[in-house]
Amino acid sequence: MSFDLVLFGGTGDLAWRKLMPALFQAFRHGSLPEGGRIIGVARDDLSDDAYRELIQSRFKAVEGGKRPSEEEFKEFASMLHYLRMDLSKPADYARLGKLLKGRNADTVVMYLATAPALFTSVVEQIAAAGLNTPATRMVLEKPLGHDLKSNRAINDAVQKVLSENQIFRIDHYLGKPSVQNLFAMRFGNALFEPIWRREHVANIQITIAEDLGVEKRGSFYDQTGALRDMVQNHALQLVCAMGMEPPINSHADAIRDEKLKVLRSLKPWTAEEIGLHAIRGQYGAGTAYGERVPGYRDEPGVDPDSKTETFVALRTEIANWRWAGVPIYIRTGKRLASRDARIEVNFRPAPHAIFRVPAGNANKLVINLQPKDGLELHLLAQPQDKRQRSSGTRMESQLAPVQLDLDFDKRFGGERVGAYERLLLDVIDGRLNLFVRRDEQEEAWRWVEPLLDSWSSDGSPRSYAAGTWGPSASSAMIARDGFAWSEEQ
Ligand code: BG6
Repeated sequence: MSFDLVLFGGTGDLAWRKLMPALFQAFRHGSLPEGGRIIGVARDDLSDDAYRELIQSRFKAVEGGKRPSEEEFKEFASMLHYLRMDLSKPADYARLGKLLKGRNADTVVMYLATAPALFTSVVEQIAAAGLNTPATRMVLEKPLGHDLKSNRAINDAVQKVLSENQIFRIDHYLGKPSVQNLFAMRFGNALFEPIWRREHVANIQITIAEDLGVEKRGSFYDQTGALRDMVQNHALQLVCAMGMEPPINSHADAIRDEKLKVLRSLKPWTAEEIGLHAIRGQYGAGTAYGERVPGYRDEPGVDPDSKTETFVALRTEIANWRWAGVPIYIRTGKRLASRDARIEVNFRPAPHAIFRVPAGNANKLVINLQPKDGLELHLLAQPQDKRQRSSGTRMESQLAPVQLDLDFDKRFGGERVGAYERLLLDVIDGRLNLFVRRDEQEEAWRWVEPLLDSWSSDGSPRSYAAGTWGPSASSAMIARDGFAWSEEQ
């Protein structure tokens, strides 16, 4: 099978940080179909060779084993091509058309990694140049739009020229190995299913914490904020993977139907709910990696009076028979105490106490997304204490927390397939399972919109020091239910 991958935004941040490294890994693992072309598109005036050199210079910054050797890069670089385009000029799409038609690949992937504001016009121009053929697959990066209306406008424009099964709305969290394993754990094993419900689960906590600040993306981020950047997409997709019913099979639409039901069941926001259960924060100066770091408003590209949130903590519920009444806490933020993404399912305590149990300890299943990738099952056990045995008080003695720890990196060894690598290969192969359908995306926008509206018209985010776990209001929110975030337990 032959393929061409056209990367709009070929010299941009995403291409550097994620896409090129992922494509190289796919090449190294022998998973890219042979003879494919990767065509970077941008405004700069570059030859194929100059583009290859540019990409190679970036790879020099890649650490350790993921950096290509000279030989490897040379081979990989033979796939790389470059086309200078002004995305507003029809003549430039005609030149792209000529390049593509010269080869007539079985699959042509158009990856839109440009500013989302350009999506609609790029899609229209692609169609006007007749480049929307049955071989075309289009990848749309998130956030798709900045609210429900703009999301619909982009989707309308794309659906006018391509059918839904040619559209790959990417959310790279769905490609993370740990999220695949969450599906495997839930739907490949029967063990957890009977207790995966309101009768046994006390609360669920989803944390996506980053220790980095906004880096070089200040001006993009300042228009976006954590709710649009992380919650509308990544965090809600994790809620779906955790809370959905078993799909009838593993086909894309069976999975997406079930995720959609979760999004539709999320408790709607009222003004009172927003006041109580939606906390936003913005980082001030503080520490990261042992060094002083500036506050968000002093980052390059950020408005010095910015009200953009860099932290969000929410409490919601999936209002259906399985989950009604179980609080789901979501929090995400930049410049937090550590880089740490996980889902924690906290189970109810034993119904009748015959042992003494240390406060705050009950069973818990942790799905670690990063930096660790694995599962932890927290249990209570009888410590082997000789004194207790001789005094005969064993049954009354205090239990101690222990955990079963499954580290997928150690267990499966070797190099795991990264999120973007997997998802790019899925696009080339035409597998839609891990991509988001239009109706899911709209439902997610519909749910966050009352928060966007309320926050844009009212108040400011609370400040938190860089290197902490966000504003104290986030702990207070969860404490009102009698629970605590895991690092406070
Ligand atoms: C992206 C966001 O979608 O996800 C970034 O735009 C964020 O702001 C990134 O840093 C986090 O991804 P990961 O895979 O590093 O957790």
